[in-house]
Amino acid sequence: MTPAVRRLPVAVMISGRGSNLAALIAAAADPAFPAEIALVVSDRADAGGLAHAAGARIATAIVERRFYPDKAAFDAAITARLEQAGVALVCLAGFMRVLSDAFVAHWHDRLINIHPSLLPAFPGLDTHARALAAGVRVHGCTVHFVRAEVDSGPIVAQAAVPVQDDDTAESLAARVLAEEHRLYPAALARIASRRFRIDGNRVLAAAPAAPAPG
Ligand code: GRF
Repeated sequence: MTPAVRRLPVAVMISGRGSNLAALIAAAADPAFPAEIALVVSDRADAGGLAHAAGARIATAIVERRFYPDKAAFDAAITARLEQAGVALVCLAGFMRVLSDAFVAHWHDRLINIHPSLLPAFPGLDTHARALAAGVRVHGCTVHFVRAEVDSGPIVAQAAVPVQDDDTAESLAARVLAEEHRLYPAALARIASRRFRIDGNRVLAAAPAAPAPG
Protein backbone atom coordinates (compact mmCIF):
# COMPACT_ATOMS: atom_id res chain seq x y z
CA MET A 1 0.00 0.00 0.00
CA THR A 2 1.29 3.50 -0.81
CA PRO A 3 1.88 5.49 2.40
CA ALA A 4 -0.66 8.30 2.84
CA VAL A 5 0.70 11.71 1.77
CA ARG A 6 0.77 14.20 4.67
CA ARG A 7 -1.56 16.86 3.38
CA LEU A 8 -1.43 20.46 4.52
CA PRO A 9 -4.61 21.39 6.42
CA VAL A 10 -6.04 24.57 4.89
CA ALA A 11 -9.11 26.73 5.36
CA VAL A 12 -11.02 28.55 2.65
CA MET A 13 -12.77 31.83 3.52
CA ILE A 14 -15.77 32.91 1.46
CA SER A 15 -18.63 35.40 1.45
CA GLY A 16 -20.59 34.35 -1.64
CA ARG A 17 -21.22 31.78 -4.34
CA GLY A 18 -17.95 29.91 -3.75
CA SER A 19 -17.09 28.75 -7.24
CA ASN A 20 -13.37 28.96 -6.40
CA LEU A 21 -14.08 26.99 -3.23
CA ALA A 22 -15.76 24.34 -5.41
CA ALA A 23 -12.66 24.19 -7.62
CA LEU A 24 -10.41 23.76 -4.57
CA ILE A 25 -12.69 21.06 -3.14
CA ALA A 26 -12.64 19.20 -6.46
CA ALA A 27 -8.84 19.33 -6.60
CA ALA A 28 -8.47 18.20 -2.98
CA ALA A 29 -10.76 15.23 -3.65
CA ASP A 30 -7.68 13.60 -5.18
CA PRO A 31 -5.80 11.97 -2.27
CA ALA A 32 -2.51 12.89 -3.97
CA PHE A 33 -3.34 16.62 -3.78
CA PRO A 34 -0.95 18.09 -1.17
CA ALA A 35 -3.61 20.07 0.76
CA GLU A 36 -6.84 19.10 2.44
CA ILE A 37 -9.63 21.52 3.18
CA ALA A 38 -10.16 21.27 6.90
CA LEU A 39 -12.54 24.20 7.33
CA VAL A 40 -14.63 26.67 5.35
CA VAL A 41 -15.21 30.04 7.03
CA SER A 42 -17.97 32.36 5.87
CA ASP A 43 -18.93 35.78 7.20
CA ARG A 44 -22.43 35.24 5.79
CA ALA A 45 -24.83 32.53 6.89
CA ASP A 46 -26.50 32.68 3.44
CA ALA A 47 -23.33 32.32 1.33
CA GLY A 48 -24.13 30.01 -1.57
CA GLY A 49 -20.69 28.44 -1.29
CA LEU A 50 -21.57 26.82 2.05
CA ALA A 51 -23.50 24.21 0.05
CA HIS A 52 -20.24 23.09 -1.60
CA ALA A 53 -18.69 22.58 1.85
CA ALA A 54 -21.74 20.65 3.07
CA GLY A 55 -21.73 18.51 -0.10
CA ALA A 56 -18.14 17.54 0.57
CA ARG A 57 -18.72 17.08 4.36
CA ILE A 58 -16.25 19.83 5.21
CA ALA A 59 -16.64 21.59 8.56
CA THR A 60 -17.90 25.17 8.34
CA ALA A 61 -17.67 28.15 10.66
CA ILE A 62 -20.00 31.10 10.18
CA VAL A 63 -18.52 34.18 11.79
CA GLU A 64 -20.76 37.22 11.33
CA ARG A 65 -19.37 40.69 11.86
CA ARG A 66 -22.58 41.92 13.52
CA PHE A 67 -21.99 39.70 16.57
CA TYR A 68 -18.67 41.37 17.41
CA PRO A 69 -18.11 44.83 18.90
CA ASP A 70 -15.33 45.71 16.47
CA LYS A 71 -13.23 44.44 13.62
CA ALA A 72 -10.42 43.35 15.95
CA ALA A 73 -12.78 41.06 17.90
CA PHE A 74 -14.29 39.71 14.66
CA ASP A 75 -10.89 38.93 13.17
CA ALA A 76 -9.72 37.37 16.44
CA ALA A 77 -12.80 35.11 16.41
CA ILE A 78 -11.90 33.96 12.89
CA THR A 79 -8.31 33.25 13.94
CA ALA A 80 -9.58 31.27 16.94
CA ARG A 81 -11.74 29.07 14.68
CA LEU A 82 -8.87 28.58 12.22
CA GLU A 83 -6.49 27.58 14.99
CA GLN A 84 -9.05 25.27 16.60
CA ALA A 85 -9.21 23.45 13.27
CA GLY A 86 -5.40 23.19 13.11
CA VAL A 87 -5.21 25.10 9.85
CA ALA A 88 -1.70 25.81 8.48
CA LEU A 89 -2.71 28.00 5.51
CA VAL A 90 -5.71 30.18 4.76
CA CYS A 91 -7.08 30.71 1.24
CA LEU A 92 -9.31 33.73 0.66
CA ALA A 93 -11.79 32.97 -2.10
CA GLY A 94 -14.22 35.82 -2.51
CA PHE A 95 -14.09 36.85 1.16
CA MET A 96 -15.52 40.34 0.87
CA ARG A 97 -14.10 42.00 3.98
CA VAL A 98 -10.79 43.73 4.41
CA LEU A 99 -8.97 41.89 7.18
CA SER A 100 -7.18 43.86 9.91
CA ASP A 101 -3.44 44.41 9.86
CA ALA A 102 -3.25 42.25 13.00
CA PHE A 103 -4.95 39.33 11.21
CA VAL A 104 -2.71 39.72 8.16
CA ALA A 105 0.39 39.89 10.40
CA HIS A 106 -0.71 36.83 12.39
CA TRP A 107 -1.10 34.79 9.18
CA HIS A 108 1.98 36.28 7.48
CA ASP A 109 3.10 34.00 4.61
CA ARG A 110 0.23 31.64 5.54
CA LEU A 111 -2.56 33.63 3.86
CA ILE A 112 -3.26 33.68 0.11
CA ASN A 113 -5.93 35.31 -2.03
CA ILE A 114 -7.25 35.10 -5.56
CA HIS A 115 -7.94 38.39 -7.31
CA PRO A 116 -9.63 38.84 -10.69
CA SER A 117 -6.98 40.95 -12.44
CA LEU A 118 -3.33 40.81 -13.35
CA LEU A 119 -2.02 42.57 -10.24
CA PRO A 120 -0.66 45.14 -9.67
CA ALA A 121 -3.16 46.35 -12.30
CA PHE A 122 -6.70 46.89 -11.03
CA PRO A 123 -6.65 46.19 -7.31
CA GLY A 124 -10.06 46.60 -5.66
CA LEU A 125 -13.52 45.99 -7.07
CA ASP A 126 -15.12 45.98 -10.56
CA THR A 127 -11.90 44.81 -12.15
CA HIS A 128 -13.45 43.59 -15.42
CA ALA A 129 -15.29 46.83 -16.20
CA ARG A 130 -12.17 48.80 -15.27
CA ALA A 131 -9.98 46.64 -17.52
CA LEU A 132 -12.36 47.26 -20.44
CA ALA A 133 -12.48 50.99 -19.73
CA ALA A 134 -8.68 51.15 -19.60
CA GLY A 135 -8.45 49.40 -22.97
CA VAL A 136 -6.05 46.68 -21.88
CA ARG A 137 -5.72 43.84 -24.40
CA VAL A 138 -4.78 41.26 -21.77
CA HIS A 139 -6.57 40.72 -18.46
CA GLY A 140 -6.56 37.81 -16.04
CA CYS A 141 -6.26 36.69 -12.45
CA THR A 142 -3.64 36.47 -9.72
CA VAL A 143 -3.01 34.30 -6.67
CA HIS A 144 -0.88 36.16 -4.14
CA PHE A 145 0.26 36.12 -0.53
CA VAL A 146 -1.69 38.72 1.43
CA ARG A 147 -0.01 41.82 2.82
CA ALA A 148 -1.50 44.75 4.74
CA GLU A 149 -2.21 46.84 1.65
CA VAL A 150 -5.34 45.54 -0.13
CA ASP A 151 -4.61 43.25 -3.14
CA SER A 152 -0.87 43.49 -2.69
CA GLY A 153 1.73 40.86 -1.80
CA PRO A 154 4.10 38.36 -3.41
CA ILE A 155 2.55 36.83 -6.52
CA VAL A 156 2.34 33.03 -6.58
CA ALA A 157 0.74 32.59 -10.01
CA GLN A 158 -1.11 34.47 -12.73
CA ALA A 159 -3.21 33.50 -15.74
CA ALA A 160 -3.78 35.83 -18.68
CA VAL A 161 -6.95 36.14 -20.74
CA PRO A 162 -7.01 38.07 -24.04
CA VAL A 163 -9.62 40.83 -24.19
CA GLN A 164 -11.92 40.51 -27.22
CA ASP A 165 -13.44 43.44 -29.08
CA ASP A 166 -16.99 42.40 -28.24
CA ASP A 167 -16.31 41.67 -24.57
CA THR A 168 -18.63 42.98 -21.90
CA ALA A 169 -17.63 43.02 -18.24
CA GLU A 170 -19.74 39.86 -17.88
CA SER A 171 -18.20 37.90 -20.77
CA LEU A 172 -14.71 38.88 -19.65
CA ALA A 173 -15.51 37.94 -16.05
CA ALA A 174 -16.70 34.50 -17.17
CA ARG A 175 -13.48 33.78 -19.07
CA VAL A 176 -11.33 35.03 -16.19
CA LEU A 177 -13.34 32.94 -13.72
CA ALA A 178 -12.70 29.79 -15.74
CA GLU A 179 -8.97 30.55 -15.42
CA GLU A 180 -9.34 31.22 -11.69
CA HIS A 181 -10.74 27.72 -11.24
CA ARG A 182 -7.63 26.26 -12.86
CA LEU A 183 -5.11 28.65 -11.29
CA TYR A 184 -6.13 28.52 -7.63
CA PRO A 185 -5.78 24.73 -7.17
CA ALA A 186 -2.44 24.79 -9.04
CA ALA A 187 -1.14 27.65 -6.87
CA LEU A 188 -2.35 25.96 -3.69
CA ALA A 189 -0.64 22.72 -4.71
CA ARG A 190 2.62 24.59 -5.18
CA ILE A 191 2.39 26.32 -1.79
CA ALA A 192 1.26 23.19 0.05
CA SER A 193 4.12 21.15 -1.35
CA ARG A 194 6.53 23.92 -0.32
CA ARG A 195 8.02 24.30 -3.79
CA PHE A 196 8.73 28.01 -3.28
CA ARG A 197 10.52 30.62 -1.25
CA ILE A 198 9.55 34.24 -0.75
CA ASP A 199 12.19 36.84 -1.59
CA GLY A 200 10.84 40.33 -0.95
CA ASN A 201 7.87 40.71 -3.24
CA ARG A 202 8.76 37.67 -5.33
CA VAL A 203 7.83 34.03 -5.02
CA LEU A 204 10.69 31.97 -6.43
CA ALA A 205 11.45 28.31 -6.93
CA ALA A 206 12.60 26.68 -3.70
CA ALA A 207 16.36 26.39 -3.24
CA PRO A 208 17.47 22.82 -3.97
CA ALA A 209 17.68 20.70 -0.83
CA ALA A 210 21.17 20.53 0.70
CA PRO A 211 22.98 17.28 -0.13
CA ALA A 212 22.92 14.69 2.63
CA PRO A 213 26.06 14.87 4.81
CA GLY A 214 28.78 12.26 4.23
C1 GRF B 1 -13.64 35.74 -7.72
O1 GRF B 1 -13.69 36.47 -8.91
C2 GRF B 1 -12.36 36.04 -6.98
O2 GRF B 1 -11.30 36.31 -7.84
C3 GRF B 1 -12.71 37.28 -6.19
O3 GRF B 1 -14.04 37.07 -5.80
C4 GRF B 1 -14.69 36.21 -6.72
C5 GRF B 1 -15.25 35.08 -5.93
O4 GRF B 1 -16.02 34.22 -6.72
N1 GRF B 1 -11.79 37.45 -5.11
P1 GRF B 1 -16.49 32.83 -6.15
O5 GRF B 1 -17.26 33.11 -4.86
O6 GRF B 1 -15.27 32.01 -5.89
O7 GRF B 1 -17.38 32.23 -7.19
